[in-house]
Amino acid sequence: MKKLPWHIAGPLHVTGRSHFIADAAPLPGMLHAKILFSPVAHARLISIDTHAALLPGIHSIIGAEDIPAANQIGHVIKDEPLFPTERIMYLGQPLLLVLAEDERLAEAALKRIKLEYEELPPLLSIDAADAAHEWYIPERRIEKGSVDQAMMDAQYVLAGESLTAGQEHFYMEGQRCRAIPGEGHTLTIQTATQSTMEVQEVLSHVLGIPAHDLIIEVPRLGGAFGGKERAATLWACLAGLAAHLSGRPVQIKLSRDEDMLVTGKRHPFKSRWRIGFDAKGIIQAWDIELMSNGGAYADLSVAILERALFHAENAYHIPHARIRGRACRTNLPPNTAYRGFGAPQGIFVIEDAIERIAAKLQLDPLEIRLRNAYRNGDITPYGQPVCESGAERTMLQVAENADYKQLRAEVASFNGSHEFCQQGIGIMPVKFGISFTTALLNQGSALIWTYIDGSVSVSTGGVEMGQELNTKVALVVAKVLGIPMAQIRVESSNSQRVGNASPTAASTGSDINGNAARIAATQIKERLTPLALKLLAQEHGIIVSEEELIWQGGMIYSTHESGKQISFGELVRYAYNERVPLGAHGYYRTPNLHFDREKGVGHPFHYFVYGCAISRVQVDLLSGEHQVLKTWIVHENGLSLHPEIDRGQITGAFVQSHGWCTMEELPVNDKGRYLAVNPSTYKIPTVRDLPLELDISIMESTGEQTSVFGSKAVGEPPFIYGMSVWFAIRDAIGGRELAFPATPEAVLMAVQTE
Ligand code: MTE
Ligand code: HPA
Ligand code: MOS
Repeated sequence: MKKLPWHIAGPLHVTGRSHFIADAAPLPGMLHAKILFSPVAHARLISIDTHAALLPGIHSIIGAEDIPAANQIGHVIKDEPLFPTERIMYLGQPLLLVLAEDERLAEAALKRIKLEYEELPPLLSIDAADAAHEWYIPERRIEKGSVDQAMMDAQYVLAGESLTAGQEHFYMEGQRCRAIPGEGHTLTIQTATQSTMEVQEVLSHVLGIPAHDLIIEVPRLGGAFGGKERAATLWACLAGLAAHLSGRPVQIKLSRDEDMLVTGKRHPFKSRWRIGFDAKGIIQAWDIELMSNGGAYADLSVAILERALFHAENAYHIPHARIRGRACRTNLPPNTAYRGFGAPQGIFVIEDAIERIAAKLQLDPLEIRLRNAYRNGDITPYGQPVCESGAERTMLQVAENADYKQLRAEVASFNGSHEFCQQGIGIMPVKFGISFTTALLNQGSALIWTYIDGSVSVSTGGVEMGQELNTKVALVVAKVLGIPMAQIRVESSNSQRVGNASPTAASTGSDINGNAARIAATQIKERLTPLALKLLAQEHGIIVSEEELIWQGGMIYSTHESGKQISFGELVRYAYNERVPLGAHGYYRTPNLHFDREKGVGHPFHYFVYGCAISRVQVDLLSGEHQVLKTWIVHENGLSLHPEIDRGQITGAFVQSHGWCTMEELPVNDKGRYLAVNPSTYKIPTVRDLPLELDISIMESTGEQTSVFGSKAVGEPPFIYGMSVWFAIRDAIGGRELAFPATPEAVLMAVQTE
């Protein structure tokens, strides 16, 4: 068998042979769908006249009245119509679908549709929406101790306001879907989603047909970053509806400009806070109010706000805390999941406050962080115990790696001898809770087939999106069965093979799907074990016990007689002949999760991931530009399943976050239109923006709960590290008021307003 590389998709990607949805040639009879997007952010819809648009080559035009069952695609909160019928809620909201033989014709038809509406003033800002009490649900709150009393007793109290901005996902593969009618009412939906289950469930409600008639298939995604966790459902429903009504295959593919104009983004947050502390910088009380800009429909805004609340104290033990949050409805495209899922926005605020404490007390900001760091046995504001000192350990380790005292001295000496160029240091610890905060999502299944040549096929509900989940799943199965990776194929995510799959999100992909695959593979191994003992006796005349069996390199042998072995292939063939089942279904649910939303108390996370970053930047005070000279990261990751992949995730997350904090701007005009809708005006980091040196070390953890084979999740937590750059820039400009993101313009404004 050909030897597979360590990273399964790598060679396919770099040689352009990996397959993505809707990149294949058009199917016979396929219709192209183009969408009429609302040109206004908020309006009363009066009429839509499509007469002039029914040109030759236009198959049909589909609107709300054509929906067979429910004009509703909201999931947790059912507030989002597939097509609005009375009120347009955001600029870019789909109003109609034109089906045509080719895309050009569809576009021409769109221009001839007459839309009549009465414009209403749009709500765009957090402040305006909050003042109007436009919340999806009432205020959420987590409270511990007595904040008001502690604030009164505190030696010092500081108050402030912190802002973080939105962020475009900028996945390389845009939103897309191909819906293909089959026998009866069945539809195959090949779609770029992180959640086969949500697409199936919502589309089945829209069409009024059972879930089993909808086959959802995801080969892989060209990046998602949360932008396809929920936001992909809309396009799949549109394509599914069109294929259902027309009886023909239908394809929807958003252009980059359309995608950036109409899809939701990371939530901007605004927070007001008060912090009480003593002369040593020990925090006594933390009172914070977080508000997010959620956009026109609830989408995942409530869960995202909740995760922000759960991370509002980051890595610090605070005896008295009151953490409140409101997700605000505005007339922007529904903001949605984005790597970190609210945690970065929550963490930014406490880190901002800590920097303020350091400035006030003239103490070192790392020292203040260390004094307040969570230690084994501390309790979070929501009542979950912290069972490890990962926060402190990673802070100490990164300080050692960066030679922190020396670093401070070098920066001070540089700054003393330069007028127009200054350096700064930013420190960014993280404690990130792993598990979906919606407890029921923490479950998953795997299906394994062992074929009679000894090759193995593994399906899980997990979606491969570049995080190399497939490599990790293959690794787990290889480890259990003692076979080479090359003998394992990890399949696409398909609702027929694995149903009811939770989204691949919350960094839990390898924990949930890896564990499900481990359980399925273990079943197979348990069935094969007695047969292996029998076969060894038959073939080689050796009698061994189960405990003496070694499964390794695709061979099974005894600890005593290593020369006498049987191959996994032989064993499987023998099992088949003996009529022993060679398929298995593994089911995993994360144990011990609970949370009482009313009381704000519980155990929402399986475990925490810890780490800390230090960045050193140089800022040109004349241009406002910065260069990250070096970043040190210590990331605590259990027993990493695959350190190279994890290093890739840490690097990618850091860069993505560096972009968020310093480059990526989402200007919106007063009509609610995003103005930067392609790469010419939206700046994401390039390879030249990387730190000149990036020193990542992965630290094993001790003691605490971990997941599959002692590993910990890695996808989102390192996103936090990128914020070290924002704080380093602010440090370089002497702690002045600095906007977010810290673009060159923002830095110049900060420096020039004295
Ligand atoms: N890495 C790549 N290359 N592409 C992605 O889309 N998404 C991130 C992270 N890393 C993403 C990625 C997000 S938002 C999450 S939640 C996790 O991967 C999801 O995958 P996992 O749970 O398997 O880590
Ligand atoms: N992360 C990502 N997606 C989610 C979560 C979460 O914590 N909760 C519900 N959906
Ligand atoms: Mo990730 S934001 O949970 O898809």
